[in-house]
Amino acid sequence: MSQKISGFREFVKAALRDPKNVSTIFPSLKYLALSLIEQSGMKEGHNVLELGCGSGAITKHILAKQDSLAAYVGVEIDKQLVQFLRTSYPGTQFLDASADDLKASVADASIDTVICSLPWTLFPQELQESIIKEILRVLKPGGQFTTFLCLHSLTYPGAPRIKKLFSQHFSKFEKRVTITRNIPPANVYWGQK
Ligand SMILES: C[S@@+](CC[C@H](N)C(=O)[O-])C[C@H]1O[C@@H](n2cnc3c(N)ncnc32)[C@H](O)[C@@H]1O
Repeated sequence: MSQKISGFREFVKAALRDPKNVSTIFPSLKYLALSLIEQSGMKEGHNVLELGCGSGAITKHILAKQDSLAAYVGVEIDKQLVQFLRTSYPGTQFLDASADDLKASVADASIDTVICSLPWTLFPQELQESIIKEILRVLKPGGQFTTFLCLHSLTYPGAPRIKKLFSQHFSKFEKRVTITRNIPPANVYWGQK
């Protein structure tokens, strides 16, 4: 895999530009990426939305199955990372947007699965709630959602709050697995509309 596609340098630069939104200098490792995809229920014919693409650590594993998907849309708030993603994956749709404001581009009840790596525990409650509402707006009934929380971040004040919000808003919500082969290790969560 080329240096450019790995995106490590671009990710570190983004983390230095905006540490609160990027949250780590280490892009997810493939064990976490593959677990999120597996737990998401992503399958042939699905419309997939990815939130917080970063430099593409999870994106590249989703796009490896792109031919079997109906559609893929990636969302990333950092403009330079979006530019990097567009250059790395020509012809793929990446929105230069915040995950709580997708109305212009993603229709109601149009998405089968949302794969998300946003730094939930660092967000204020209003943003946590508005992003969850946006995820529920775009998901089809019965649509699925996966995300992760890094183990060290479970001690942050935002952690119990976001887990409570997930449980309140999704009809089903549960912790699925702990991925220790990631820097940092993380719990993977699953929800269903
Ligand atoms: C923890 S990083 C994950 C990056 C990559 N998916 C990975 O797993 O290595 C979180 C990413 O979410 C992006 N992000 C933060 N807040 C966002 C928001 N409100 N909307 C969209 N993306 C956001 C950050 O810029 C960053 O790239």
